[in-house]
Amino acid sequence: MDNFTFKSPTQFIFGRGTHAQAGKYAARCGAKKVMVLYGGGSVITNGVLQTVVESLDAAGLDFIVAGGVQPNPVSSYVYQAIEAAREEKVDFMLAVGGGSVIDTAKAVAAGVPYDGDFLDFYRGKGVKEALPVGVVLTIAAAGSEGSPNTVITDEETKIKKGATGECLRPQFAILNPELTFTLSAYQSACGISDMMAHIFERYFTKTKDNAVTDRICEGLLLAITEKAMDVIIDREDYEAQAAIMWAGMLAHNNICGVGREQDWGSHALAHQLSALFDAAHGAALAVVFPAWMKYVVDEDVELFARIAHNVWGVAMSDDKKQMALDGIAAYEKFLRGIGMPTNLAQLDVPEEAIPQLVELAFAPGGSTIGYFKKLTPADVEAVYRLAL
Ligand code: NZQ
Ligand code: ZN
Repeated sequence: MDNFTFKSPTQFIFGRGTHAQAGKYAARCGAKKVMVLYGGGSVITNGVLQTVVESLDAAGLDFIVAGGVQPNPVSSYVYQAIEAAREEKVDFMLAVGGGSVIDTAKAVAAGVPYDGDFLDFYRGKGVKEALPVGVVLTIAAAGSEGSPNTVITDEETKIKKGATGECLRPQFAILNPELTFTLSAYQSACGISDMMAHIFERYFTKTKDNAVTDRICEGLLLAITEKAMDVIIDREDYEAQAAIMWAGMLAHNNICGVGREQDWGSHALAHQLSALFDAAHGAALAVVFPAWMKYVVDEDVELFARIAHNVWGVAMSDDKKQMALDGIAAYEKFLRGIGMPTNLAQLDVPEEAIPQLVELAFAPGGSTIGYFKKLTPADVEAVYRLAL
């Protein structure tokens, strides 16, 4: 196990009716003027925004409200929101939505006190200072409610990239599984694909002797696969949604990743599918991850055989390679079962786009991507081709 430090300071408020406490928790964080961000309008239709705004009023907080954050959020929105936040002397960001809204709130939080271009943070500069962020989560997926990360697409270069800073971890995150009842089955499935990918990015490592985190990863994957079909069939299954919502947070606050080298290559490849073709993040990962697994399986056949047995129920055998391949096939079957695409054609991505996807994946710099197997441009092209 590698040395590590781990601090997950976010206060999680979990359960029915909890979003009505947003104002109380923002006030406890010392907020005076709150910028409430939301997305395309689902929180208006289902009444969530109204309840949150009333709670801010009840807590005696001043606030402004801004909507229109799009999935796969973009830089132009962030620039405008930074301006508005500065003009209004906002001192607290409250995201009401999913990863896209939370990531935008984090981008604004980092941009307001920064003199330069906020995109510097997405070109490798660490975020050291930011306004405090609070979250009312409406979709179990990205795990941004507990993570120190934010992902934004630079519209000029079409590069989708992450920025990181411990100060970006939300002060509090309200997780009410009831808020997910209005999701479509497709959106729920995208979320499930994403949270599983967050675990795989950490599970597939060259670091040895990680018994605790290995088992946390496998346990979470088992819980997710057990409950996934329940939420796809009935989005109002509270207990199933509760399990999926908590799993989505645990998959990405890095409790699964401490003490080990992590990969993150599949995310880098999936991001370019979202940037160029506006593919939903979880759907892009459902296409990339099985292809990546097939490409890198020989790096550690034992590890692949182990997850095949422990998570996918593949019978033990002396033929570890076959076990490994059966595990990958079971994962693909699972993805198809919850309604996810598993090839590029299903995302309307033509074969001719592959050279541009490879170029974009390397545009931020570096000669390889990922760590479990360091992928060169030729490897990345091969992975995309395996996804055709
Ligand atoms: O915009 P609205 O109208 O709210 O609709 C959204 C959106 O269309 C809808 N939705 C959300 N909650 C809903 C709902 N519809 C009905 N009822 C509800 N309760 O769902 C759609 C997708 O929303 P989005 O916020 O984009 O989803 P998600 O949480 O999957 O976030 C994806 C973004 O997060 C980034 C991804 O790259 C992507 O841009 N990620 C962020 C990470 C982080 N900050 O740590 C890590 C992840 O790996 C990921 O990269
Ligand atoms: Zn993700």
